[in-house]
Amino acid sequence: MIRRAFFIVIAALALTSLTVQAGSTPARAKLGMVITQSDIASQVGFEVIKSGGNAIDAAVATAFALAVTHPTAGNIGGGGFIVFRPASGEPVSYDFREVGPSRASPEMWLKDGKYDFDTHHNSHLSVGVPGTVAGLHLAWKEAGSKPWTALVAPSIKLARDGFEVSHGLARSLASMIPEFKKYPASLVQFSKNGQPYEAGDILKQADLAKTLTRIADQGPAGFYQGETAALIEKEMKANGGLITAGDLKAYEAKKRGVVKGVYRGYDIISMPPPSSGGIAVVQILNVLEGFDLKAGGYGSAQNIHYTAEAMRRAFADRARYLGDPDFEKDIPIPMLISKDYATGLRKTIDPKKASKSATNSFTWTSESPETTHLSIVDAKRNAVSMTYTLEYGYGSRIVVPGAGFLLNNEMGDFNGQPGLTDERGMIGTNPNLTRPGKRMLSSMAPTIIAKDGQLFMVTGTPGGRTIINTVLTTILNVIDYGMNAQEAVDAGRMHHQWLPDRIGIERFGFSADTIKLLQAMGHTVQEGGNQGAAQVIVFNQKDNMLEGGVDRRPADGGAAGK
Ligand code: GLY
Repeated sequence: MIRRAFFIVIAALALTSLTVQAGSTPARAKLGMVITQSDIASQVGFEVIKSGGNAIDAAVATAFALAVTHPTAGNIGGGGFIVFRPASGEPVSYDFREVGPSRASPEMWLKDGKYDFDTHHNSHLSVGVPGTVAGLHLAWKEAGSKPWTALVAPSIKLARDGFEVSHGLARSLASMIPEFKKYPASLVQFSKNGQPYEAGDILKQADLAKTLTRIADQGPAGFYQGETAALIEKEMKANGGLITAGDLKAYEAKKRGVVKGVYRGYDIISMPPPSSGGIAVVQILNVLEGFDLKAGGYGSAQNIHYTAEAMRRAFADRARYLGDPDFEKDIPIPMLISKDYATGLRKTIDPKKASKSATNSFTWTSESPETTHLSIVDAKRNAVSMTYTLEYGYGSRIVVPGAGFLLNNEMGDFNGQPGLTDERGMIGTNPNLTRPGKRMLSSMAPTIIAKDGQLFMVTGTPGGRTIINTVLTTILNVIDYGMNAQEAVDAGRMHHQWLPDRIGIERFGFSADTIKLLQAMGHTVQEGGNQGAAQVIVFNQKDNMLEGGVDRRPADGGAAGK
């Protein structure tokens, strides 16, 4: 087991800043590796691999475990995406994004004719029909090898018998008590009669254990029908929410293809719409391929400028074109990820001067930085990159009474009001307007990279719209800058999303001189907090070794493997 020793190493390093840690050692394992934001959940996933399960089996068990041990984003009441690259055969994706209920409409976020942020993001109306259970089951049915019940069992035990609350979780739960007070079942589940859990306490979730048992016994019907569905519908009816038993029964996860690109000879495999993530990552890489990043060096002002300009252009296209492909039939995916298109975009980049984002065209819905990511490789080198979310931390903060799980507030990822654009970052364009049965646009970018037909890298992260750029920079850090998996995760991160027109950088991420050079080119540079929580596995073919990079920014992340 690598976990214990590894954490001693990172505990020491974590005392320094988040800039590149020269010589940071990746976690190493041969048999298989699971990296998540909860070391308990990583361990659950690795136990599955150790007992002969494959990467999809491990993803299912790990995701259910995260729904117990990482309630801020691990979930059964939300949705997400899996990109799966089997060791042989074609890569596929599983889309279990939430959908709008049957009574949803583009105008549902208006109150007295005006856009209302709280209705959109903090209400029972903000809950989309959850997809996680259906998605995990679909992936398992297609590619799993172990019995479903065996994969759900560890999460039932964790919920029923409890697990030790870490310092990170204790802090997080304590900060949420004012929010949980709005919903009695949430307060009961995540506090001790209104008092915060402390590190070392045991957190038991009896109702969640019962719901997970129904899912173990009945499969998706244990969630989308019968008692669980009735409990969700009851909560919705009592509080003005829209989701009905019929909406739940009608939910379908979808198997999709993948977005493919080639960057400097590496095959990029990522998530297609309804996520914008894969297209944007490939588009930015295509633009950057025309610049010699290696010569410029990691963290140089010149490379940050090129990277920000490529990001700016991809994010503009994201707003213009992307939405649920089952509703928007004209998304020009081949064009957006083509080398020719990237060449045209590259020509519009002045090497010495920042472009300006046009503020009179498109801007953004607000998107929360919460979400969580799992990177998994098994003994046969099947690989899973999975990102899933409740949208905000703890989603809508609504625990379904009697069912013990949190509901998402993912409807907030739909555009707010047709035609409305304002300084707060609203977008009113058609491709991502709210509709019944429609999936809201996402930024999640679970990504796998291959070289010469072999697995090379698995990457992904939470972080709202910063997801795209965090995933991108982990790829640049490994391919262009030659970092190992841990260095690639540790390195300071940057973000540009077209609007607002500024480069976001992590505190201590880049030097003061670099920032001055960027400002001299005309960029606004804004220092902020941590960006994302990337989980990266690089497969070192020569040594048949998996090398893991665990993000030290959030608490509790861990790699498990042997
Ligand atoms: N809710 C975050 C995302 O889907 O990108």
